[in-house]
Amino acid sequence: MSEEARRILAAEDFLRRFAASVKAIQLYSGDHPIVRRAHEQFAEHLERMLVEAPQVVVGLVDRQVVVDAVPVTVGSGTAETVERFRSNGIERIAFARGVTRDELNTFSGKLAALRAARDDSEESLQALASSHIQLGRLRIQQRVESGHGGVTAIQETYRDAVASAEALWEQTKAEGSPEPEMAMAVVEGLASGVGQNRRAMLALTAMCRYDNYTFTHMVNVSVLTMAQARGLGVDGALLRQFGLAGLMHDIGKIKTPPEILTKPEQLSGQEFVVMMRHPTDGAEMLRRHLELPPLAAIVAFEHHLRIDGTGYPAGVVRPALNVATQLCSIADVYDAMRSQRRYQQSFPTERILKVLEQQDGTRFDQHLVRRFSQLMGLYPPGNLVRLDSGALAVVLRTHAPDPARPTVRVVVSPDGRRLSHPVDLALWADAGPSGPPPRIVTPVDPQEAGIDPFAFLDAHAA
Ligand SMILES: [Fe+2]
Repeated sequence: MSEEARRILAAEDFLRRFAASVKAIQLYSGDHPIVRRAHEQFAEHLERMLVEAPQVVVGLVDRQVVVDAVPVTVGSGTAETVERFRSNGIERIAFARGVTRDELNTFSGKLAALRAARDDSEESLQALASSHIQLGRLRIQQRVESGHGGVTAIQETYRDAVASAEALWEQTKAEGSPEPEMAMAVVEGLASGVGQNRRAMLALTAMCRYDNYTFTHMVNVSVLTMAQARGLGVDGALLRQFGLAGLMHDIGKIKTPPEILTKPEQLSGQEFVVMMRHPTDGAEMLRRHLELPPLAAIVAFEHHLRIDGTGYPAGVVRPALNVATQLCSIADVYDAMRSQRRYQQSFPTERILKVLEQQDGTRFDQHLVRRFSQLMGLYPPGNLVRLDSGALAVVLRTHAPDPARPTVRVVVSPDGRRLSHPVDLALWADAGPSGPPPRIVTPVDPQEAGIDPFAFLDAHAA
């Protein structure tokens, strides 16, 4: 069974067991075996879901129920309980990891005892809550300001890394070789960012910038290399080696004359020969530092070589390229094409992935390219997109089996209203009672739309 089919079944099963637990206590006393069994089954199911995520959120939008962004069909077994929530103004229930069985049983009992009459005051909602069960209206929660993977902290990590990459570049230029401790400090920050919130880190690499290209590119290649490596099971010290290799892959360019480095037009033959020296120069610089892992020098040397033997330094014959080089090259080509610079428009993801797939898959390893396109999707996290309903949405998570249909957060309604209560939608889901989910029509420039997609990445919706 596919991962997504499993998520849909788990969401449906969750709602069914939740409703059964509330219904049982409406009909029988608390110590009746039917009640005990219903409570037990609900608690077990929730515990399984909380192993995978720190919280499970049930949202009600009109009569649509969404469990962890998956729309769930309301059937005969669940309709009465859903109506009970609605008539009491409950739009959102969040179960946090650590919830006890006592808390769940008490909660089901309180829900069952609710009068059918509408009573949706804030006090009556909060009377139902407990330390691990929160209730309320759909709302944007405050951004997490702590250092535990909240977007503000991640944004700071990213900004610091770009500033440190610039300092590292200048230091290398002045002294002729990079300061290992400085380089490793940059990677440490980025690696912890990738570990805490890979989605937010990937989204940050998607923010187009005209200025600072050299340094944002260093940081982006490092993040994109580590994100791919994480997907292959690489972690810990080795992950940091991959990140360092990504960060330093182009360091040899400090020796390339700036007029060649920033020339908007195509390079002449002679200029290209000069440009082609940067892998060798970089490897030479990195090799001298025994504190730096040899992988950084290997990747710097190999990153313009291709698996079919093309590329440069010319004449180098390798039976195989290091996997870190292959991940770094994919990240390098992707980020270079995606970035908008003074003399280059940014290319849409679809076009870039085509470049990585072309030449009959002889230049880049197609398994790695496929994994990369699944990681980024056609619309990478943090992208603002227009749906065929006319609504604007921020891409939250890619959906590996269908890169064109990610999970999104709708922030502007089809009639152009900014939603004060953004709604999460799984565009890959099957048709629900209200028809199939909308489709993405086109990416939208966030600046033109006056929307900061990043502000929505950490806000919780249904
Ligand atoms: Fe390069």
